[in-house]
Amino acid sequence: MSSTLTAIIAAILGFLLGTNFPACSLSKSQIRSRFFSYGRDANSSMYLPIYNSCTSCENNNTFTFSSSTTNFSDDKYKIFVPSNPKGAETLPPGIVVSESDLYLHRLWGDPNEDLPIKSKYLVAFAVSLKQKDNVNAAVQKFSENFTILLFHYDGHINEWDEFEWSTRAIHVGTRGQTKWWYAKRFLHPDIVASYEYIFIWDEDLGVEHFDAEEYIKLVKKYGLEISQPAIESNKDFAYQITRRRTDTEFHKKAEDSKCPDPNETPCTEFIEIMAPVFSKDAWRCVWHIIQNDLIHGWGLDFTLKKCVEPASEKIGIVDAQWIFHHAVTTLRDQGEEDPGKRSAIAKRIADRCYLELGTFKERWHQAEKNYYKMKGLIPLNSTATFTHFP
Ligand SMILES: *[C@@H]1O[C@H](CO)[C@@H](O)[C@H](O)[C@H]1NC(C)=O
Ligand SMILES: *[C@@H]1O[C@H](CO)[C@@H](O)[C@H](O)[C@H]1NC(C)=O
Ligand SMILES: *[C@@H]1O[C@H](CO)[C@@H](O)[C@H](O)[C@H]1NC(C)=O
Ligand SMILES: *[C@@H]1O[C@H](CO)[C@@H](O)[C@H](O)[C@H]1NC(C)=O
Ligand SMILES: *[C@@H]1O[C@H](CO)[C@@H](O)[C@H](O)[C@H]1NC(C)=O
Repeated sequence: MSSTLTAIIAAILGFLLGTNFPACSLSKSQIRSRFFSYGRDANSSMYLPIYNSCTSCENNNTFTFSSSTTNFSDDKYKIFVPSNPKGAETLPPGIVVSESDLYLHRLWGDPNEDLPIKSKYLVAFAVSLKQKDNVNAAVQKFSENFTILLFHYDGHINEWDEFEWSTRAIHVGTRGQTKWWYAKRFLHPDIVASYEYIFIWDEDLGVEHFDAEEYIKLVKKYGLEISQPAIESNKDFAYQITRRRTDTEFHKKAEDSKCPDPNETPCTEFIEIMAPVFSKDAWRCVWHIIQNDLIHGWGLDFTLKKCVEPASEKIGIVDAQWIFHHAVTTLRDQGEEDPGKRSAIAKRIADRCYLELGTFKERWHQAEKNYYKMKGLIPLNSTATFTHFP
């Protein structure tokens, strides 16, 4: 309904401001519309849409352009547009900009010519200086079609200036925060609405066999809304489904005897949170799952499937573009040199991760239960399983 309305408003505006505008007499002319009247600001050439508050507009489609003697204190010139974003109803829709991007502008010249390239994709890394070279190597794999966003959880920003790309990257520096803390705060779907795909990656990934443009070609080709590159690792795999296969370009199920039930998450409809790639639409949903206080994001991967339909088709692992997981997260040791203290900190963080997982699980189940109760239905067993968590 709201988008239909927006389309209608846009059409009316386009009609008025475009083709018909010069023909309108300034004194009086009648235009027909369901939703708006238009009044001319006494001292400007702008026409302002004014919402008609009539409740039954079916047979009441007339309004007028009034003359320049309009009294703007009159109630009928009060703007109120219910289809505007919440809180912005008093604005003429033509001025409302409800979505944004992370494009860098210059301070001079024609704004239309500020951007040589409007990047279509976004890649965000949570980084520390300790992984500088690894991150530099990773960034090289993302073309100029990507906006690069670095979340500096060690607070160091200037040190990255040695890299040419650093000057066109967006740097956000706040100490000791996690990737999901940043994502919740800085990647609101309305803020990153210009990007078709959003990569939210850890810093400890080996990208020798990865190219982001090629990756996007594949996710487009296979219609993957939520995906990750396949993983090679020297360590044990937490989830068999992410393991790289050499006989296919992508896969959607774990084909491994170690996976308890090939038709259940995490053996299908699953990716991990270390290197996820979201389509714009999927991210618009996923952002809402992220809890403000549960900053490690544990358990999130079990619920991603709730954001795409059918999840079995739209969640997948890309084998043809794959990464190596080094599994060094320096966030966990907080830069502590002393090994004893370091492992003590790491343990406290690990405990927190498990605590968050439990809380998240509980919240999810409770939320589902409440929903079904509200609908007058007997709550089923939860539709999201968090089993098989290592
Ligand atoms: C229009 O301009 C005149 C003269 O500059 C001024 O007196 C008047 O208040 C203005 N009206 C509005 C609605 O801004
Ligand atoms: C038609 O519009 C006028 C002016 O907005 C309003 O006073 C009137 O009640 C409307 N009639 C119907 C049937 O809605
Ligand atoms: C404009 O309308 C307001 C409110 O209806 C009224 O108080 C005011 O006197 C009007 N001014 C003129 C110049 O008609
Ligand atoms: C960037 O995007 C444009 C337009 O889709 C494409 O032609 C170009 O090849 C891309 N650049 C790279 C390095 O792939
Ligand atoms: C719900 O879960 C329990 C325990 O896991 C199981 O025994 C039962 O069959 C499930 N019920 C339904 C309707 O799936």
